[in-house]
Amino acid sequence: MLPFEEKLASIPRLSLAAYPTPLDPLPRLSAELGRPVYIKRDDSLGPALGGNKTRKLEYLLADAQRRRQQKVVTFGGLQSNHARLTAAAANQLGMQAHLLYFEKRPRQLTGNLALNQLLGARMHFIPFGGGGGMTLEASVRLARLVAWLLVGRHYFIPVGGHNWLGCLGYVRAALEIDDQARALGLENAHLVLAAGSGGTLAGLWAGLTLRRSSIQLLGIDVGKLWKAFPLSVASLSTEICRRLAQPQVFSPRQVPLIEATYVGARYGAPSPAGQAALQRLARAEGILLDPIYTAKAFAGLLGEMAQGRLGQNDPVIFLHTGGLPALFASTHP
Ligand SMILES: Cc1ncc(COP(=O)(O)O)c(C=O)c1O
Repeated sequence: MLPFEEKLASIPRLSLAAYPTPLDPLPRLSAELGRPVYIKRDDSLGPALGGNKTRKLEYLLADAQRRRQQKVVTFGGLQSNHARLTAAAANQLGMQAHLLYFEKRPRQLTGNLALNQLLGARMHFIPFGGGGGMTLEASVRLARLVAWLLVGRHYFIPVGGHNWLGCLGYVRAALEIDDQARALGLENAHLVLAAGSGGTLAGLWAGLTLRRSSIQLLGIDVGKLWKAFPLSVASLSTEICRRLAQPQVFSPRQVPLIEATYVGARYGAPSPAGQAALQRLARAEGILLDPIYTAKAFAGLLGEMAQGRLGQNDPVIFLHTGGLPALFASTHP
């Protein structure tokens, strides 16, 4: 174990799911694309239909419990999987979840919102109107203030679980993926994933760098939500390494992220390329993606591969981060 792995293992974490998640080959898609393609199944993480945020919540809710907090508050877009997972995990721990949405309450609650209702989460709709063009950090500060006014004493979780503690979940995942890739003999694999708040990317970037892994990362921005997004990701990776006592500076110019190209019209709206990618994987391998995050990221994988930007014959791993409830949201045709 490297020193940073020992430090990581010493940080309290709850266990909300079973690990490791599978790293499975996609034989038919590999044959179509002429190179080995794998899928890392973080969509299989529980609870309540799961997804990538479980790994972050294991650290964040351990901290909430240590601080003896009864209420947990977070925020996100209307189809936030993170909010739904926070509600489910809070129930599992006997805590009360409050979910803030800075939008009008939709007439019908679909997808993740319907699941929140089943889970008994307190949903607060605050049609704020602003938000566009802010940095992620500024929107977190604003939501934190609103949370205090609305809920009082609570444990606050930023959008997407985006802080150094939550993102340790994806430092752990980086080690898990690196171990699995080595066991399969995958050299110089490209790991492609969706970036929303960017925390999954930041945690993986820190973890793979500290591990000196041969895996090359590529985040696909699915929303173009934040001002100065690369700076936010780089600062978070830097902070994660500092907390793991391995000072390392990540520069915004080096962030392995494609902004804008695969977003489509906007965050939350399916894109034609994303829907085509979703259908392609479903028909080739019987695996479903979600329209808001993973379909756009998979379109990025196919698009970048077609442009020759993922090496020539190197293996490619797609990180399936979940999100399937949004398939059932009628607002997303
Ligand atoms: C299904 C799914 N995939 C990917 C992401 C992106 O993760 P992150 O916010 O860590 O960038 C999210 C959440 O934002 C998500 O719900």
